[in-house]
Amino acid sequence: MPTAPEELIQHTADFIRAKFLHEGSGHDWEHIRRVWQVARALARQTPQANLLVTELGALLHDVADWKFHDGDEEAGPRAARQWLESQQTPEAVIGQVEAIIREISFKGLGVATPMSSLEGELVQDADRLDAIGAIGVARAFAYGGHKNRPLHDPSVPPVQHESFASYKQNTAPTINHFYEKLLHLRERLNTPAARRVAEQRHAYMEQFLAQFLREWEGQDVAEL
Ligand code: ADP
Ligand code: NI
Repeated sequence: MPTAPEELIQHTADFIRAKFLHEGSGHDWEHIRRVWQVARALARQTPQANLLVTELGALLHDVADWKFHDGDEEAGPRAARQWLESQQTPEAVIGQVEAIIREISFKGLGVATPMSSLEGELVQDADRLDAIGAIGVARAFAYGGHKNRPLHDPSVPPVQHESFASYKQNTAPTINHFYEKLLHLRERLNTPAARRVAEQRHAYMEQFLAQFLREWEGQDVAEL
């Protein structure tokens, strides 16, 4: 017998919390918890959205990210299917969640990443909001540290990645990631509500970058 929706969501949250609790690369349980909360808030403003699909998509969106699985883009959808099948989830729901995971990721500036469902649009917005603002700054440097990247290197200019392959191979300093992705997310949101939240987060990141570069160049100590 299929598990009741509330029970399935709770089991999935427990499963993912246990799996990601000690993850240090910026894909930790708290990231997933925030995406889940924000996706739910966006869904509340979107009566046509299916709440079960939205919540499962949010909870499972990073279950096996290609960045941590040798670039295997099907690892996530596969792991989600395996979990949902173990919970006797209806096939229609599994298919929709798989699609969200397959489509959600940013794949480089030159690559469009449209979502094929309304629920996917909400989860993608929630995930992208968590990549900008103060938390976005913290997560970018957590990721860069995890990958042993330098904070900044002015001799390595940002690149406009035109293909997913080029984006995947990127090993640039963390500051470049702002110019290659994070400063563009505001323009790539699906819902007006997420765009409203993004305004202030975006402005904060710009302020952070201006201050970072000022300190890097020693401009604020030049007149000591
Ligand atoms: P998305 O779900 O939008 O595809 P990712 O899974 O690519 O996001 O990224 C997860 C987190 O790691 C985000 O906060 C992102 O900014 C950060 N991150 C990803 N790639 C890099 C990178 N090359 N340098 C710094 N931070 C990165
Ligand atoms: Ni995520």
